[in-house]
Amino acid sequence: MNLTGFGSSQIRYDMFDLVKDAEEARRLHKCENIYHRGQEMAWDGKDILPMLIEQHGGVKVPPEKREALKKVFAIILWGELAAWKISAQLADRLVPLEAKMGATSQAFDEARHFYVMYDYLKELNYEVEPLDRAPQALLDLVLDTDHLPYKLLGMQLMIEPIALTVFQTVRESGIEPVLCDLLRYYERDEARHVGLGMQYLPSLLQRMSKSEIAALFTFQVRLMTWAMAELKVMEKDLKVLGITPRTIVERTRKKQLAATHEALSAFGYEWKKNRNYPAATLNAVTEFVFPDDSVRHDPKARLKAAWRRFWHRDETHDASEFAVHEHSIKTVHGMQ
Ligand SMILES: [Fe+2]
Ligand SMILES: [Fe+2]
Repeated sequence: MNLTGFGSSQIRYDMFDLVKDAEEARRLHKCENIYHRGQEMAWDGKDILPMLIEQHGGVKVPPEKREALKKVFAIILWGELAAWKISAQLADRLVPLEAKMGATSQAFDEARHFYVMYDYLKELNYEVEPLDRAPQALLDLVLDTDHLPYKLLGMQLMIEPIALTVFQTVRESGIEPVLCDLLRYYERDEARHVGLGMQYLPSLLQRMSKSEIAALFTFQVRLMTWAMAELKVMEKDLKVLGITPRTIVERTRKKQLAATHEALSAFGYEWKKNRNYPAATLNAVTEFVFPDDSVRHDPKARLKAAWRRFWHRDETHDASEFAVHEHSIKTVHGMQ
């Protein structure tokens, strides 16, 4: 707006009329449901964390694993802050009512994730310190981009599956009972957030040119590179917790594939015709850096496995990949 009160406004009166067809209307309806579902499933961190601490008689972690647990979940803590900021950016910038509602509800959830994780880490005597370069670079890439499809792909379809994988794998390890129970609450919320990317990214893709979509895939490769570097940073601590990075790689890949497949198929992307060579290269490098146990000590076999991964087409995906996160939790409305 200029001094005379004329000019452009941030109030978008067209926010109700941006739907192209019935298929898009159906997807936007799902985005709106993320908001309503978020309200039904809201839980109170100031109630749940003390309840779990009391149930388990305090936070009990073997002394030799304490530092490793703190380090891994310090990365998660700042990831939650980044997720809060990114979802708030999306809540402001997405125009259609339903998508805006979905992102707003995510910002509400991420604020809770951040303060509850901070409260939990204080139980481990955590003191604030900056992140390593790789996890910060990954988060900054998504925080700093002004392109909405980049933000949505980066946050909802790439970073959320990494968080879900870490939560699921740590929970299954049974390393610390309070945390393992708490992660059920986080998983429930994060799985809903992936839904926003799956349902709304196709709408943004439909309005992009081929070269813009190619640039988006290049951005995805940059994200994957930093995600691999982040895992390398976490490797030592994960091993102390009894978790093999390979498990994280495999699970994350499956979840990211299921999410991006859903979004790109709704947009009409033909998986069989297209091949993303930079991503295939990165998959091969990941295979080499985080090898399967059977080839770990044999460089030749590692190279072979990486070569096979390069040519492997990840066409199969399982839409039920996220069902594992549907835990029963105590919400502000009762058990759900
Ligand atoms: Fe979160
Ligand atoms: Fe999230």
